[in-house]
Amino acid sequence: PEIVPWTRPMPVPPVLKPLVSTPKQEIYQLSIERTTAEILPGLQSPVMGFGGQFIGPTIKAKTGRKTLIMFQNRMDEAANVHLHGGHVPPEHDGHPKDLIEPNRTRLYLYPNTQQGATLWYHDHSHGTEAAHVYLGLHGAYVIEDDSERGLNLPTGAYDIPIMLRDIQFDASGNIVVFDDPANRTIVLANGIPQPYFEVAARKYRFRLINTANQRVFKLKLTGDKFTRIGSDGGLLATSLEADELTLSSAERADVVVDFSKYPIGSKITLTDAVGGEILRFDVVRRATDNSRVPAALRPLPALPLSTVDREVDLFYVFKPNERPDGVINGKVFDMDRVDFTIKRGATETWLIKSSDPTGVKHNFHLHLVQFRVLERNGGPPHPGDAGLKDTIPITAGETVKVQATFTGYTGRYVYHCHFLEHSWIGMMAQLEIVP
Ligand code: C2O
Ligand code: CU
Repeated sequence: PEIVPWTRPMPVPPVLKPLVSTPKQEIYQLSIERTTAEILPGLQSPVMGFGGQFIGPTIKAKTGRKTLIMFQNRMDEAANVHLHGGHVPPEHDGHPKDLIEPNRTRLYLYPNTQQGATLWYHDHSHGTEAAHVYLGLHGAYVIEDDSERGLNLPTGAYDIPIMLRDIQFDASGNIVVFDDPANRTIVLANGIPQPYFEVAARKYRFRLINTANQRVFKLKLTGDKFTRIGSDGGLLATSLEADELTLSSAERADVVVDFSKYPIGSKITLTDAVGGEILRFDVVRRATDNSRVPAALRPLPALPLSTVDREVDLFYVFKPNERPDGVINGKVFDMDRVDFTIKRGATETWLIKSSDPTGVKHNFHLHLVQFRVLERNGGPPHPGDAGLKDTIPITAGETVKVQATFTGYTGRYVYHCHFLEHSWIGMMAQLEIVP
């Protein structure tokens, strides 16, 4: 089937309804299933989805109120759930070897002790994470907090998560997994190729989430700019104007776009440097707008003194006639090995680098805590490195200095390349936080 641009609306994933809601906690139930979805027009493709939807429902949380989710795995294979960017105890982190077996349920507890942020949840089952996420096992998880609400940013129907990813189909509409990522030429916005999205002539907050397995988007708006207000871990200190946004796999960018300057009937297109036109905003009506984008948003936490230095090197190791290994500091992932033992509460400086001989790009992600990028290649961080981060792209030959404080829980967590076909072949390691 042929994709005719701008003929289908971009869906907004529904917000999941809690079974129980009290000021202290909300309890949800969510299935993990195989299903089909009409991604290409007129064709049903086999997919996997949370709640039986190709893009899972959005889970809304509030700082200070716990979220409990009973996940039911209705698939014929093991799966699990990781809350990407979440500050959660190790047994609820979706460790790659901590699985929900077929036809079993499992309760995950998310304390939501962190500030407001755009997170996302996805499968993290080792060896199958790349296929599962690619087939659809992901959704948005939005934490809101009172002080952010006090800023009066656009909310409600004017606060929209947009998950961007690429995909490849075969002739009969099956999703092609594990081919060359360069063949993933179709880009989806909330699960649909080249949809339109009707907007009012006012400000919108878009929570852009790159849910692609392995892709760096370079996004622009035709004739307009983005006002960046947040990154992975929540609000930036100040809002920033940007002509272009670089968004690597798993990174998030919260932006505000003000459509009030446009006459009704205007069309503004979101484009990617490689993928071309992705999504069109159609201005269809006027609306009142009391929201604002203050220049000063929220100060970032002070940077404590760092007492430990570490180095993390991500690269490929090629072997004759075999699949390459993905390694960190020369080693493939091993469940029984801990590479870094970290004292709880310690502040550490990590030099992330890639000495990859092939020149392949990588994408560093740390579980449990948000970090700050101090330097990129000995100089200032890139615009996309601003704020609280949990994921950063890294090109071969680059070095990125980051600082993190390991508060909260003790136990084992992973850090890995968030190009999922790379973590799949071993580019992942464990740290252990000790009292
Ligand atoms: Cu988004 Cu370890 O994952
Ligand atoms: Cu990688």
